[in-house]
Amino acid sequence: MAADIPVDKTTTPPRPSLFDFHGVSMIHSFTDNWEKVQNFQARSDDILIATYPKAGTTWVSYILDLLYFSQSQPDRQTSTPIHERVPFLESKYPNHPSGTDRADSLDSSPRLIKTHLPVQMIPKSFWEQKCRVVYVARNAKDNAVSFFHFDRMDLCQPEPGEWNSYLQRFMDGKMLFGSWYDHVTGWWERKQSHPEIHYMFFEDMVEDTGREIDKLSSFLGSNSTAAEKEQIRHLVQFDNMKKNDMTNYSSFDEMDFNISPFMRKGKVGDWKNHFTLAQNEQFDEDYMKKMKKNASLQFRTIV
Ligand code: PPS
Repeated sequence: MAADIPVDKTTTPPRPSLFDFHGVSMIHSFTDNWEKVQNFQARSDDILIATYPKAGTTWVSYILDLLYFSQSQPDRQTSTPIHERVPFLESKYPNHPSGTDRADSLDSSPRLIKTHLPVQMIPKSFWEQKCRVVYVARNAKDNAVSFFHFDRMDLCQPEPGEWNSYLQRFMDGKMLFGSWYDHVTGWWERKQSHPEIHYMFFEDMVEDTGREIDKLSSFLGSNSTAAEKEQIRHLVQFDNMKKNDMTNYSSFDEMDFNISPFMRKGKVGDWKNHFTLAQNEQFDEDYMKKMKKNASLQFRTIV
């Protein structure tokens, strides 16, 4: 969701407005480069990290970057922020390289590329090249809470308004990058016929990061040793990523960390501090209706 845009925080910058884009709510920063995004030429060893916003993109990006490059390019970890190592495919901000330009200029192999696009919007070359995709999903309640705080602090995001109306908008699917329900189920359905998609859950990563790194590493055919994976597990712990200027987005002027940090809580179950009893009941009822046709897709809201 992030881009390194210089913003003068002494004035109030105008927030972008959502508009309908092929049935998905978007802002211009993610549609202005659409032709190049759709025509993007993926390479067969590219790895796409796909998520609904705030599902654990940065966490998994960092894990993948370490799995591939911590041994061969150790300097990379201290010299280059994660958003430059893992370009955000659809992003296009004035006076900054677009996500497609950043990806095209990467000379690493594999290239790690981030996207928040729903499955039907992924450029076709990724499917033609049978690129591996790591999709991370997070339970709807914590995802909504995390997104709300992010929208408060990232001045390039649409104005969130107050929590109650925000939650209603989340349920209505009128969020940037569209409906959470459509996103997680769309990718889930695609995974059933595409073994190149590794579908993982934020809650599982919180429960046992080492186990999820092992699964990722076998999916990717990585030859990292047990000791290297243990080192990665250590580096990607919430507190370590929060302290690490290459992963905590501290260089982003557009983000107001006085409102909320990017690395905020990193927990499962923070929704309980936000949902009222009435909101929770209404949410659960609506959730059952929306998700019942995808009964095999189960999320945990506590671990
Ligand atoms: S973005 O802007 O869409 O790319 O954001 P994304 O990286 O997907 O999600 C940010 C949330 O992930 C949490 N996070 C972590 N949690 C636990 N452990 C680690 N290592 C970790 N890294 C990132 C981050 O704190 C955001 O969640 P919340 O609930 O807001 O804290």
